[in-house]
Amino acid sequence: NKGVGIIGIGSYLPEKVLTNLELEKMVDTSDEWITTRTGIKERRILEEGRAASYMAIEASKKALKDANVDASDIDLVLVATMTPDMLTPSTACIVQDELNCNKAAAFDLSAACSGFIYGLSVAYGFIKSGVYKNILLVATEAMSRIIDWTDRGTCVLFGDGAGAVVISEVPKGKGILQFEIGADGSGAKHLLVPAGGSKTPINEEILKERLNYLKMDGGEVFKFAVRKIDEVSKNIIEKSGLKLENIDCLIPHQANIRIIDSAIKKLKLSKEKVYANLEKYGNMSAASIPIALDEAIKENKIKDNDIILLIGFGGGLTWGASVLKW
Ligand code: ACO
Repeated sequence: NKGVGIIGIGSYLPEKVLTNLELEKMVDTSDEWITTRTGIKERRILEEGRAASYMAIEASKKALKDANVDASDIDLVLVATMTPDMLTPSTACIVQDELNCNKAAAFDLSAACSGFIYGLSVAYGFIKSGVYKNILLVATEAMSRIIDWTDRGTCVLFGDGAGAVVISEVPKGKGILQFEIGADGSGAKHLLVPAGGSKTPINEEILKERLNYLKMDGGEVFKFAVRKIDEVSKNIIEKSGLKLENIDCLIPHQANIRIIDSAIKKLKLSKEKVYANLEKYGNMSAASIPIALDEAIKENKIKDNDIILLIGFGGGLTWGASVLKW
């Protein structure tokens, strides 16, 4: 009766940095507005000619090495993304081929910023049931490609990056202790890319109206996020048979420092236990949580046997949380 957990992790961030000061030259905004309203100082932008799969592959190579698992021993490549290379084939198939995961099945998972947590729960199910042994879960987002760079309300918020993990059996009592995923499709209108799918194929009129770019009602998403972090944290901690004091590190989705601050105030959790790196990278959608987890580990903020709480929220609307014992 073994556990299921992360046995290797890696991340990739494009080299190109876009600062708030540079954004001041692109749209009517200021470093002061962006910093005080979001906490973001800079973000990474994927080089032209590269796609989400490029970052996924780079992050995955590091995760496989860290896990000491051969690509040929991966049973499933699962890619969480809202910015796939193409509508079809899945980005997972591109990653599978490039990495030579030659016996793996591959598919993409669409849950916006909650994608990594959704992916963890899918991987957990496949391994716990004995169907698969090793799963490569990658969250990769080229948000710069779906952002309207003339819309100051959204373009200052997002960045590009990828985080990957290898999920396998771990000793009993370790790994994923609990997860919870949820959705409220009635909130779909608050965060969407209206065109480019089967409902509204792209034509010249659509391009003129800029409907192929991300649209967001920031205020609605903000309220939803603060409420959900609080609700879901309390729920999942109780379901795990733990108390808030048992949590050693909370890694929330990295959307806005004000969302994180409001949530930890509501939760009454000490700030030292919360990891945030959005100042450097902005909101990288599904990739934010695994990249933050990777950095927290490398900065020695997470030690053996620590209890970690991951919480994601975003487009859909969707949310997800997981409690892990490291
Ligand atoms: N620079 C300067 N001014 C701006 C900018 C900008 N970049 N953007 C908006 N403003 C202006 C607005 O036009 C508005 O002006 P007005 O009062 O004259 O109309 C004013 O600033 C205030 O705008 P608000 O939208 O009320 O600002 P708010 O404090 O709500 O912050 C923000 C906006 C940062 C978007 C916030 O609502 C937020 O973070 N929302 C959550 C977003 C989020 O978490 N998304 C995660 C999901 S992501 C996913 O799933 C992919």
